[in-house]
Amino acid sequence: METILVTGGAGFIGSHVCVELIEAGFRVVVIDNFVNSTPEALERIESITGERVHFMDVDMMDLDSLDEVFLTYTIDAVIHLAGLKAVGESVTDPLQYYRYNLTPLLHLCECIEKHHVHRLVFSSSATVYGPPQHVPIPETHPVKTENPYGRTKHMSEQILKDFQRSYFPVKIVILRYFNPVGAHQSGLIGEKPTGVPNNIMPYITEVAIGRLPVLHIFGDDYPTRDGTCIRDFVHITDLANGHVKGIEATERMDPGVAVYNLGTGKGTTVKELLHTFEHVTQTTIPFTIADRRSGDVAVSYADVRAAERELGWKSTKGIEDMCKDAWRWQHLNPTGYVKR
Ligand code: UD1
Repeated sequence: METILVTGGAGFIGSHVCVELIEAGFRVVVIDNFVNSTPEALERIESITGERVHFMDVDMMDLDSLDEVFLTYTIDAVIHLAGLKAVGESVTDPLQYYRYNLTPLLHLCECIEKHHVHRLVFSSSATVYGPPQHVPIPETHPVKTENPYGRTKHMSEQILKDFQRSYFPVKIVILRYFNPVGAHQSGLIGEKPTGVPNNIMPYITEVAIGRLPVLHIFGDDYPTRDGTCIRDFVHITDLANGHVKGIEATERMDPGVAVYNLGTGKGTTVKELLHTFEHVTQTTIPFTIADRRSGDVAVSYADVRAAERELGWKSTKGIEDMCKDAWRWQHLNPTGYVKR
């Protein structure tokens, strides 16, 4: 049985990745500092899978304690998800983003080389493409980062490419996520942002449960079919499964770095998402039209052919499943993770 280290394994994406890994037969070791997650998520992963999640309370800013993880377990491959991800916060506090998104990656690369690990999957974002010159967006689309968060993702990709050139055996898969939404169909794990959500789906579910009064749609005068922005929403369990495929790809690929989009290849407008949510959950979401949000692009969706061809990965779930599952999670856990 192979052992996979998942950094940030208690978070929204991490918890779903752990479930998919365990169900695919991997042993999982999680490290997390719970800055934007909770230990309860690990209990829930165990409830879903019936398997123990190995956990070490490690802050990746501390190289020695990270090294301890590699001394304690024989790690076959690493999935690096830990990081900060709020665009607005990265503009007001850029140094925090450079410090906490880059230092842990440097430490991780040091440990990977020192302990002769050869396989790494890294969590990047479609935000690195900036305003698309054309859609669907292939991995070869030029990169244009427009905020410190996006720049930390692009810099991390560059660091990994340089690292690979210096540590030849390593095989790295970089995954650029489009818009992950939804929750595990058990309703036991899901997304619980701290404070007011920045992203659309948790905002909708919090309005639906009555925690927020009204959804503000940021602009309805974009050049799209209904005036609202188009995004490539991808179900979180599909996205998580893409990591399993990424790990499997690092087994068979030649040393090097490969980059893949994870999306559905289909664009959905904000209003279409909202109306699908209302339809499948039989709720009514009050909304108002607000000003455009600075930094938003009108249309973004992925060219997913590379992931399909080379990873053997394809999304399976549609917008209705994403809405149903997001709502089930919110409904069963109105205040997020509370110990059962
Ligand atoms: C955002 C980030 C992106 C990050 C991703 C992580 C920005 C500009 N981009 O993507 O870098 O990788 O989250 O998941 O923050 N919307 C509303 N009302 C809301 C919230 C969102 O109308 O209350 C609209 C937005 O204007 C946008 C769409 O919904 O058109 C999706 O927004 P969001 O969920 O924040 O994702 P992105 O902006 O695509």
